[in-house]
Amino acid sequence: MEKPSIIQYVPMLASVETALQSAYDVHRLWEAPDRDALVAEIAPRVRGFATDGHHGIPPDLMAKLPALEIVSSYGVGYDAIDTAACKARNVRVTNTPDVLNDVMAEITVGLMVALCHRIPQADAFVRAGRWTSGNFGLTGELTGAHAGIVGLGRIGKEIARRLTAMKMKVSYHGRREQAYEPYDYYADLTAMARDVDWLVVIAPGTNETRGIISRQVMEALGPEGSLVNMARGSLVDEPAMVELLADGRLGAAALDVFAEEPKVPEALWTMDNVVLSPHQGSATHKTRGAMGDLVVQNLAAHFKGDPLLTPVA
Ligand code: 8YV
Repeated sequence: MEKPSIIQYVPMLASVETALQSAYDVHRLWEAPDRDALVAEIAPRVRGFATDGHHGIPPDLMAKLPALEIVSSYGVGYDAIDTAACKARNVRVTNTPDVLNDVMAEITVGLMVALCHRIPQADAFVRAGRWTSGNFGLTGELTGAHAGIVGLGRIGKEIARRLTAMKMKVSYHGRREQAYEPYDYYADLTAMARDVDWLVVIAPGTNETRGIISRQVMEALGPEGSLVNMARGSLVDEPAMVELLADGRLGAAALDVFAEEPKVPEALWTMDNVVLSPHQGSATHKTRGAMGDLVVQNLAAHFKGDPLLTPVA
């Protein structure tokens, strides 16, 4: 039987690429010298699309693929995929939930510890040979501080568990109160920002969450507060954040995501009160391997006519 044709939109793990190539006629779009010409040639037979959470599928490209049946995305966030348009066309969408919950929580705590214990600066201090001239100085700590989680979903709950283990008080804000969670709920995000020391953002990037970490919320978090963004750059008013961090009206920030990745506002590069991470949240060998397996298994299930493992909504 002829192998189904799929587009692979971005480079993927070697294990994923090998698996895709053995099962499909794979068109590696990013390598095509003339992308439009390739799309025009293969469009009538492309049934699957493998992509990642950053790139999704551009609407104009999807419109050119009349035979498309499934978009399998390497990431839990699917904000770069127009799921309503997919639904209207009966195109299935899969993502990679759950397998990254633990690692996301782990790096969130890691960035928080790095920020308040000033680990990047301490490392630079030792490497610069400055220890022999005096001690590094005192830092903050997480123990006993109050964290407010924005988005107590699957990843948010894992973060909450770990912050509780760090002896922090945990509260949360989200669309609704969750009956069986032990943490204090705030319906009002600004009120939570005012009360907490740390605001940890891990809600999905949607139209509803766009810009929710507004200037007002960051001012409420204030000069003693720290912002941690592990979600999407779109949730934060980035220009306001940069301004408030620069003049001290917002204390500090640990940032894994940005509005226009891979561009990071240059003003942040030299700030001492930020820790910057290049969207590394799930980027470990183990977790990316598990995410890649889901991309492959969802496509396989679809083309076999089996239920999808992790369909979106
Ligand atoms: C990835 C992510 O960066 O899962 C997500 O939503 O943001 C990440 O895990 C991305 O999808 C992989 O390139």
